[in-house]
Amino acid sequence: MSFSSQPTDFTQYDTAAISETDRAHFLHPWQIFDAIAEEGALPIAAAEGAYIYDSDGNRYLDAVGGLWCTNIGLGREEMADAIAEQVRKMAYASPFVDMTNIPAATLAAKLAELAPGDLNHVALSCGGSTAIDTAYRLIHFYQNCRGKQNKKHIISRINSYHGSTYASMSIGGKPGDHPPEFDYIQDTIHHISCPNYYRAEAGLSEADFLEARLQELEDKILQVGPDKVAAFFAEPVFGAGGVIVPPQGYHRGTWEICQKYDVLYVSDEVVTAFGRLGHWFASKEVFDFQPDIICSAKGLTSGYQPLGATIYSSKIHNVISELGHGRCFTHGFTYSGHPVACAAALKNIEIMEREKLLPHVQDIGPYFQAQLKTLSDLPIVGDVRGIGLMACVEFVKDKASKERFDEEFDIGKWISNQADSRGLIVRPIVNLNVMSPPLIIDAEQVDFIVSTLRESILACVDDLKQQGHL
Ligand SMILES: Cc1ncc(COP(=O)(O)O)c(C=O)c1O
Repeated sequence: MSFSSQPTDFTQYDTAAISETDRAHFLHPWQIFDAIAEEGALPIAAAEGAYIYDSDGNRYLDAVGGLWCTNIGLGREEMADAIAEQVRKMAYASPFVDMTNIPAATLAAKLAELAPGDLNHVALSCGGSTAIDTAYRLIHFYQNCRGKQNKKHIISRINSYHGSTYASMSIGGKPGDHPPEFDYIQDTIHHISCPNYYRAEAGLSEADFLEARLQELEDKILQVGPDKVAAFFAEPVFGAGGVIVPPQGYHRGTWEICQKYDVLYVSDEVVTAFGRLGHWFASKEVFDFQPDIICSAKGLTSGYQPLGATIYSSKIHNVISELGHGRCFTHGFTYSGHPVACAAALKNIEIMEREKLLPHVQDIGPYFQAQLKTLSDLPIVGDVRGIGLMACVEFVKDKASKERFDEEFDIGKWISNQADSRGLIVRPIVNLNVMSPPLIIDAEQVDFIVSTLRESILACVDDLKQQGHL
């Protein structure tokens, strides 16, 4: 592993001025207007491996991996060289109609090789949301080509996250992401329950819970009408919805129901692919089902370049590309198959192969999960869950009843602030701290994450007690 040899001179930055400029002009994704107005944002200025540095030079272990994406770690010379080389050679070429470029064609072939089964065709876009949007439009195109003009309805799950374009946000089902100030597609998108056993009705066995979730999907298809339901969109592990790993058998069970009713299965692997669960893709290798479409982004380039991929089956391709219809697939972007992004993805995959990062995750993932579980003895830790290098700690006011803290406490943020001050970044989502560290993480860094989280939670417990909330 070779990281940047150029140390950053932090004295060049005026943190207060950056913060002011940011506040005045940059509208952040998920900006909370009141909080930004009061506190501003933390400017990150440099990164190396699993560490990031703010503009004052403070170092943090980034246990979030950027945003589930810095899989091979940041600051790699080799990535910088591959990107620079492609920029020098050819920074851009149109992918439209009848032109292509070498990195895009090579990457599409590589993804077809790595993806399971007959997922042999790839549409490239700019990130996860556009990969989902592409799947959505591809499904419309496919159903129309088959003469099934009514088969356009989508089923997804409460708490799922699929991106923030109009369609992908409408497919997503996180209540907190659907404030009334925005509009959504509502007439053709349906949400069923989240398979989160921790929040199941008390006394219900996991087997009965699973059965109920599967029945719910089948009932929804029958209620909307199998001739109307086009596709089921699902993350194999809910990410932003709280790192929820469905009960064993859920994936296979939902897939079988989809097969039964001619419903396409779109596996949103924007987070779970490219090593996060120790495999290139999780659908088949971890959860034993063969999707019709896999959407990927994030770890595909480890965040070095924006890129999304919609990898779909020969079954779909054979229908849409049937000759003699004069069809044109009027979808895609100026930057579909961007040569620099594709060159970055190819180098990223090469590094993951050469450094055997997938077997490394298969080793370190269980250690990470086991160490995090040791936090379960703490008074406000209700659940510790995850798989591979995705994890989350759920905080509760009362462990026995699983009662949540009032949202106004923002308990996840309270604890993540404590962690920040100790050099650790975890992601607060309401009552959760979510983690997805770079795949290069080692046992010592895992130990640091766990001991720092322990200290941060205990500091928060002290505060809560002092203020009479516990
Ligand atoms: C499962 C999932 N799908 C889609 C997206 C959207 O990806 P992007 O932010 O690259 O558009 C995300 C982003 O976090 C995600 O977690």
